Formats: sequence, C-alpha cells, structure tokens
Amino acid sequence: MTKIAFLGTGLMGEPMARNLLKAGFGLTVWNRTQDKALPLGAAGARIAPAPQDAVRGAGIVVTMLSDGEAVSDLLFGRGCAAAMAAGTLVIDMSSIRPREARDHAGRLAAAGIGHLDAPVSGGTRGAEAADLAIMVGGDPADFARAEPVLRAMGRPVLVGPAGAGQLSKLANQAIVAITIGAVAEATLLVRRAGADPRLFRQALEGGFADSIILRQHGERMETGDFAPGGRASIQLKDLDNILDEARALGIALPLVSALRDRFHRLVHDMGHGELDHAALFLELLDRNGLPAGT
Ligand SMILES: NC(=O)c1ccc[n+]([C@@H]2O[C@H](COP(=O)([O-])OP(=O)(O)OC[C@H]3O[C@@H](n4cnc5c(N)ncnc54)[C@H](OP(=O)(O)O)[C@@H]3O)[C@@H](O)[C@H]2O)c1
Repeated sequence: MTKIAFLGTGLMGEPMARNLLKAGFGLTVWNRTQDKALPLGAAGARIAPAPQDAVRGAGIVVTMLSDGEAVSDLLFGRGCAAAMAAGTLVIDMSSIRPREARDHAGRLAAAGIGHLDAPVSGGTRGAEAADLAIMVGGDPADFARAEPVLRAMGRPVLVGPAGAGQLSKLANQAIVAITIGAVAEATLLVRRAGADPRLFRQALEGGFADSIILRQHGERMETGDFAPGGRASIQLKDLDNILDEARALGIALPLVSALRDRFHRLVHDMGHGELDHAALFLELLDRNGLPAGT
C-alpha cells in the first residue's frame, strides 16, 4: 500500500491522520509542536523528527496546515519538495488562497511532483467521523490516485483544475460565516423573547432553516461552550481570502464584507481568536450591550 506522510496534526489533522491509520495506510507524521503528534505514535504512526524526514520515500504527502504561508514555507522554504522523489503526489488539505494553490501546483509540476488542492468542510466532528466534505482541484489522474486516501477521511469530489477546490472551500466558508451570523441573531431573538433555544431548534428540525450550523453552533451559543472546533481566527483568514478573490474578480459580496468586519472585531478588538467561530454570538451580545451568558 502507498506510504503516506502527513504534515500538520492540529485540531483537524490529528483525527484525519488517525482515520488513515484505521484504513490500514502506513503513515509517517510530523507536527511543528511534536506533542500533538505523539498520540498518533501510540496508534501506529511513525513520528518523524523533521518534515523532510517524513516526506522522504512517501508516495503521497498530505498537508493540513493553518494557511498558505505555512504550506509554502514547508514545501519550498524548508526543503520538503526537494526531499520528495519525482512522481510523489502532494494533497494539500489546508484552506489556502486559490492563487497560492495554483502557484504550488505549478512549482511542484516543474519537479515532476503532482498536486491536488483538497480543502475540507465538516469541522472536527466531521474529521473524527471520516465524514468530511472534500473539494478537490487538480488533474483527474492524480485525483484517481488520491481517491482511496481521501475516501478514508470523507467524501471527495473533483470540482475542476488546480485552485478549484480552494475556490469551492471559500464559497463554502461564505455560507458558513453568514449562517453562523443568522443563527446567532435567531438565538438571541428567541432567548430575549423568553423562548427556550433548545426547543426552538427542535421545532425547526426538518424545515427550511434547519442545518448542521443551527444544530451544532446553536447549541454552542445556548450553552456558551466555545471550545474551538474551528477557530474564529481561521474563519477571519478565510473571509479575508474570499474578499481578495472577489476583488480580483471585480464583484462585491456585501454579506461577506459585513461578517468579515464582525469577525475582525471578535478576534482583534475582543481578543477571542482562539475561541470557536460560533463565538460570533459574543460579538453580537457585546454589540447589544449585553454581558456574555445573557
Ligand atoms: N477546525 C475546523 O473546523 C476546520 C474545518 C475545515 C477546514 N479547516 C482548515 O484546516 C486547516 C487546519 O486547521 P485546524 O483547525 O486543524 O488548525 P490548528 O489546530 O491551528 O492546526 C494548524 C496546524 O498548522 C501547523 N502550522 C501552523 N503554522 C505552521 C508553520 N509555519 N510551519 C509548520 N506548521 C505550522 C500547526 O502546528 P502547531 O501545532 O505547531 O501550531 C498545526 O499543526 C486550516 O487551513 C483551516 O482553515 C479547519
């Protein structure tokens, strides 16, 4: 079976790597903060001391890092691409800018290395359940080669050429951020009117307004549990990237712009970048002059 190297075992990467082990793939993992990779060692992965060691001899290299700078730094700054043999396939599952993905694909192709951009949606729960939505950009032959690996983590769909996966992910994030904003306002509205937010969500089940965001993030807002599944700081990065792309395409996205400003306030003015993105509810409370827990 293909040997896989997995770089980046953070909130998402750790359960994704675990599912590759469960599917029987031989796995070498590396994480900048090594402590976070150690539990995978106990589950059967080899822990590499440096990223170049992890990728040497791997047929497929999966990256799951914060942003495009981190991916670019590892591949080209710290010599991972140079340590890969021609014919290796890089599957970058991080959420990065489409133009960065196209740039990485071009630079790797020059060294005979394949590349797919394959960002995901579904959060840590989707990662744990191997039920991630996986939006893929790249060459169909590379996709066919990657499919068994991607299927061990979720449901991959090849959307188009290099960068198309990242564009789809940005569009996905626009829907997620706007819906979190809508769920926050609905939750505050019913709570202030004296209704029970849990019963409100139950009443909406199966209707047009029902969604995973209503169920999962509505519950976080109700209980005030904002332990991060997806960090607010990462949501802000995605919203900035959406607006970058929109500017390049010459289109205005008024709802995304408004949500971007509110996440900026939550992260930079209120200092809640490490909380879950459902903590936008705290920004809404603050904007209304209401204390957290209202
Ligand atoms: N969490 C979600 O709900 C969710 C959902 C879908 C997609 N995503 C996307 O998935 C990606 C990972 O997110 P996450 O939630 O797993 O975040 P996270 O827990 O913060 O993990 C980020 C990972 O990137 C590594 N990293 C950051 N900068 C680095 C650098 N300069 N060099 C090497 N490694 C670096 C971190 O290493 P350290 O451990 O050393 O910090 C960590 O392994 C992001 O692109 C995010 O947008 C997240």
